Amino acid sequence: MDPSGVDRRPVDAAATSRANRGWWDGAADGYQAEHGEFLRDRGFVWCPEGLDEADARLLGDVAGLDVLEIGCGAGQCGRWLADRGARVAAFDLSFRQLQHSRRIDLGTGSSLPVVQADAESLPFAGGSFDLACSAFGALPFTADARAVLTEARRVLRPGGRLVFSVSHPVRWAFPDDPGPRGLTADRSYFDRSPYVEIDDDGRPSYVEHHRTLGDWVGHIVAAGLVLRGLTEPEWPGGHEREWGGWSPLRGRHLPGTAIFTCVRP
Ligand SMILES: C[S@@+](CC[C@H](N)C(=O)[O-])C[C@H]1O[C@@H](n2cnc3c(N)ncnc32)[C@H](O)[C@@H]1O
Repeated sequence: MDPSGVDRRPVDAAATSRANRGWWDGAADGYQAEHGEFLRDRGFVWCPEGLDEADARLLGDVAGLDVLEIGCGAGQCGRWLADRGARVAAFDLSFRQLQHSRRIDLGTGSSLPVVQADAESLPFAGGSFDLACSAFGALPFTADARAVLTEARRVLRPGGRLVFSVSHPVRWAFPDDPGPRGLTADRSYFDRSPYVEIDDDGRPSYVEHHRTLGDWVGHIVAAGLVLRGLTEPEWPGGHEREWGGWSPLRGRHLPGTAIFTCVRP
């Protein structure tokens, strides 16, 4: 472990959930203060590149559909979908994130139904939804991506779609630095060791799990879904906003986000 409290070590599903629930509860206020304006209270932004669902149309027409937002944070995407006529349910691991969803509801006159849940075990009946979506919610963090995808398949109706964005797997080989240091690979893309922050008691306090592109395809197929598309948003000219290790400099050279479109047969 380096002196900053960062490590690469195996962390199981229970320890990952416990760490990330605590981390997101503690970070939610700062996260919404920093990114809320960019996300917009009723906006659907897929990624730090700023790809907007209004332009990308990865979900198609959602009017009249039952839609599940996975790892919704403050529910910005869910509210955008509801504004377009979808019946939306949303969930997140972090209670504090969901309190921000309520705060936005009270401020905007909207009413997004949310529930606190872990994406690896969903509190919804099978075949409840026509569409499930996620903008960086749950899937980059969870220890068992296959369990999340299997749960998503379970709650979808036949023909239902799952569209989700995650950090692009290629990023894993590079330092998470928006500057020039972030352009030189310093670790193996094939090293699946999770990124772990450790608290003063030696316990994980934040965890991200890495999957290669091949791993993602394998999990999608094993979950019984069909992969229909992979979108790799390019960094748009004139977009200067940095988000953590995402920046215009890196965006010119490296993919930052992968968006998978899947269907339940
Ligand atoms: C980067 S935010 C994405 C949310 C929203 N789309 C946004 O852009 O702000 C990641 C969210 O995933 C949630 N999350 C992490 N692990 C989760 C899990 N296992 N189940 C459900 N939500 C989870 C976090 O609490 C957090 O709100």
